[in-house]
Amino acid sequence: MDQRSNEPHAVAASMSLPATPFRFCLRYLRRYQAVVWLMVVLEGGQSACSILLPYAIKQIMDGVSAAHAAGIDAWSAVSDAFWLFAALNLGVVLCSRASGTVLVMLGPALRRRVRRDLFSYLQLHSQRYFLSNFAGSLANRIAEVSMGVSQVIWTTLFDFWPLVISFSVSQYLLASVNPRLALVLGSWMVVYVSVCFLLARRCRRYARDYAAARSAVSGTIVDSVSNIMTAKLFARRDFERDHLEGYLDREVERARATFWFMEGIRWFQFVAAFILMLAVIGYALRLWSAGGMSAGQFAMAASLSLLLIEQARGLSRRFLEFFEFVGNINDGVGMIVRPHEVVDDAQAGPLRVAAGEIRFEQVDFAYNVERPVFRALNLTLRAGERVGLVGYSGSGKSTLVNLILRLFEPQRGRILIDGQDIKLVTQESLRAAVAMIPQDPLLFHRSLKDNIRYGRLGASDDEVVEAACLAYAHDFIVAMEDGYDALVGERGVKLSGGQRQRIALARAILKASPILLLDEATSALDSVTERSIQESLEHLMQGRTVVVVAHRLSTLAHLDRILVFHEGRIIEDGSHASLLAAAGHYAHMWTMQAGGFLPEHDASAP
Ligand SMILES: Nc1ncnc2c1ncn2[C@@H]1O[C@H](COP(=O)(O)OP(=O)(O)OP(=O)(O)O)[C@@H](O)[C@H]1O
Ligand SMILES: [Mg+2]
Repeated sequence: MDQRSNEPHAVAASMSLPATPFRFCLRYLRRYQAVVWLMVVLEGGQSACSILLPYAIKQIMDGVSAAHAAGIDAWSAVSDAFWLFAALNLGVVLCSRASGTVLVMLGPALRRRVRRDLFSYLQLHSQRYFLSNFAGSLANRIAEVSMGVSQVIWTTLFDFWPLVISFSVSQYLLASVNPRLALVLGSWMVVYVSVCFLLARRCRRYARDYAAARSAVSGTIVDSVSNIMTAKLFARRDFERDHLEGYLDREVERARATFWFMEGIRWFQFVAAFILMLAVIGYALRLWSAGGMSAGQFAMAASLSLLLIEQARGLSRRFLEFFEFVGNINDGVGMIVRPHEVVDDAQAGPLRVAAGEIRFEQVDFAYNVERPVFRALNLTLRAGERVGLVGYSGSGKSTLVNLILRLFEPQRGRILIDGQDIKLVTQESLRAAVAMIPQDPLLFHRSLKDNIRYGRLGASDDEVVEAACLAYAHDFIVAMEDGYDALVGERGVKLSGGQRQRIALARAILKASPILLLDEATSALDSVTERSIQESLEHLMQGRTVVVVAHRLSTLAHLDRILVFHEGRIIEDGSHASLLAAAGHYAHMWTMQAGGFLPEHDASAP
């Protein structure tokens, strides 16, 4: 069926998925069209064979009575009917097992497909999107949608469709005996299905409240467990338990309300079945005793209604589940299948970096319109220049770096790399040309080796170790129990901030791209380790255009050029020496830090 990715690269540039549950399911029905039709036939066949069994029994009974009456051999009178009976039973077995086999093949492949498509779509979302949606809930949504799509299809194929077949066939059979009998059963069915549908719709509200109460309980437990240290430190164990108690009470209340309603639905179903049995059997008995039908026909009418009742019993529940699955698909698709914010231009080609000049032209940027970060920013970072950015927290340094990476888009103006507008090149090629070390790098829950190799997937083990040595990470890595094979926990929580920064540095060393951005990349390191790394950084910066954001001014002092940011504007621009000589903002900050924070200028430092 659907084997390993057919077009792994084709999805990269742009992708579209339907955004409504109906069209979303349809997409996958179409994709597996042939198999789905096969299942429609098999399920229809199974259900037709089952519902025809009472007909075969009628033929047998009538055959036997006729033979008795005529005094001839019963077997010769009923052998055809018997073979029909046998064939129908065989049909049930073959159709149902064939359909089971197809399901085993189709089910997992379908869910895999849905997950892969949603994941690929999700990957193309912007930074902003991921800042406002939690990773855990996105993963849940993907799982729910893939489950929902298959369940909606299965419920339709295995529950609704067979019921339609059974109903139509039994209507036909009964009508051939007595049209009034068919009318009784037909009207019952119409009323029953409509009431089930309406009840299920009303039950949805209860089910939703109950689900919300359940997830509130899980949410509270997760919150308490994540903050377990705080609870311990403040000796709040009892408080946390009491806090949970309220949510548990609510869950119990909601659960009871839902179950009461469902119990009511069951009452309806049992009573309806009771009425149907009485009506059909009573009416058929009257016909039979009046000579209007044979014993076989009577038996057929009775078993048809029994079979239909059996099939229609859980109908409300199935409607309810169906609504729930559709609701899940709707929620998941609504969250994931939104238009992508940052997309490649239709004509986008790869970025070609020869020198590495970065130019901002009249750039306006705001995360939200009321609070602009940059207004008409003009800035040129010459090729091979090493530029430091300083400024108070919130002055827009990280934003500048994010814009170079096109993680966000300026509202106006252009950003050019070697004369090419970054909006008109592919995002992949742009990010391949730029290495970035963020302030708080996160690591995959994979081995350290794999985490470093992420910078260049083809790197050999020796190259990985070499990069780790340059980043001063080798020593602490080999001191760990599993060395380069150590797993570092989700997001790298088992490493210190400084250790993670050094892994990120090693990764960037392997990537060796022409432009390098360091956003507080060494801020978590002590001054001594930072000093040692400085040498590797010098080496790494050779022949590249480099932007270094740092609060610690000694990190920047040796760079070619320093830009001082204030509220999104560049208020000073020059080398360390020239800015000191200008005795402005930078010189002021320098004296402040030299006084308090910079041990290398402190006479008492070791
Ligand atoms: N994702 C975001 N959504 C909305 N506003 C943001 C976002 N990121 C940053 N901002 C706002 O944009 C402004 C500039 O932030 P930025 O992160 O560029 O500052 P910074 O100079 O890097 O500060 P720091 O030195 O603290 O890292 C701040 O006012 C900040 O609150
Ligand atoms: Mg920042």
